[in-house]
Amino acid sequence: MNKPIQKHIDTTTMKDKDKNDDLRAFVLSLPKAELHLHIEGSLEPELLFELAQRNDIALPYVSVDALRAAYAFDDLQSFLDLYYAGAGVLITERDFYDMTIAYLRRAQADGVVHAEIMFDPQTHTARGIAMATVFAGMARAMREAQASLNISSYLILSFLRHLSEESAFTTLEAALPLREQYGDLWIAIGLDSAERGNPPEKFTRVFALCKELGFRLVAHAGEEGPASYVRNALDLLQVERIDHGVRSEEDPALMQRLITDQIPLTVCPLSNLKLGVVRNMAEHNLARMLRSGVMITINSDDPAYFGGYVADNYMVSAIGLGLNRDELIILAKNSIKASLLDDAQKNKYLAQF
Ligand code: HPA
Ligand code: ZN
Repeated sequence: MNKPIQKHIDTTTMKDKDKNDDLRAFVLSLPKAELHLHIEGSLEPELLFELAQRNDIALPYVSVDALRAAYAFDDLQSFLDLYYAGAGVLITERDFYDMTIAYLRRAQADGVVHAEIMFDPQTHTARGIAMATVFAGMARAMREAQASLNISSYLILSFLRHLSEESAFTTLEAALPLREQYGDLWIAIGLDSAERGNPPEKFTRVFALCKELGFRLVAHAGEEGPASYVRNALDLLQVERIDHGVRSEEDPALMQRLITDQIPLTVCPLSNLKLGVVRNMAEHNLARMLRSGVMITINSDDPAYFGGYVADNYMVSAIGLGLNRDELIILAKNSIKASLLDDAQKNKYLAQF
């Protein structure tokens, strides 16, 4: 019997590309949950153009390439301006379905087994789109993806923090009648948009009501805002998970609390890079926080705008910060543990490692 020739692969002589292909295959193979994803931020320029055409909406860009070229941001606000304008092409149930199914297919290709999807209803209702239209399109895609792609998902209805608390109350009121129909998907409330000058305490009362109504709570904090916003999101809004939270490091006592209580941070490296939260990946604190015991997860935020989906975010972290495979496994496991799934579902996914 011929013995197979033993091939000796010396990784030190492997070309960088081969090594990266290998690493990417490893990242893709890990079962992952995506916990910080704005569905409006998954609208790729190609689909954005298609929807504009379908809905007879004029865009101030001559081509998909011209639009993509405009995605150069100085800070969070410069991104938000384009992101809200881009969402203006979403009109019908089918538009919301198309956007959501495109994301779920793309996420599944990256090895995402579960996604917790934020959406900004105020962006749509302010343009006269019915709340029911927004929910119906997203929910149809999510249910279809559960059945045909085997990817589970939840919805996180997020209030825009640059608007008033009163507007958040009105939004909640408009959405609540839909809970009967979509309560299996819509289980959580979030807070996003321009952080500076819009502290968590602006939304204390509406978050208290959401808690009373039985919603799970998350909030963006410590992206551009200071560590005190993270503290106040925890203490005043009573959230169980922080979106971004990278500025928590500025407060050592807060850091200790995150570690002791294992409060998850949904970190988005490419977003931080593109919005100037960090100057380069080497400066990102996610590896340091992970190694000091913080429950860090890796996510894509607005993948169509920041140039990468979840696997790209794992890759840029692994390469830029020298994360080893054991650390990538911890990050993927963290994403399952930090999800809003029940213990039985978490254990099902954790058993796949
Ligand atoms: N921060 C705040 N609001 C947002 C973001 C973000 O990264 N993405 C979409 N809305
Ligand atoms: Zn975000």
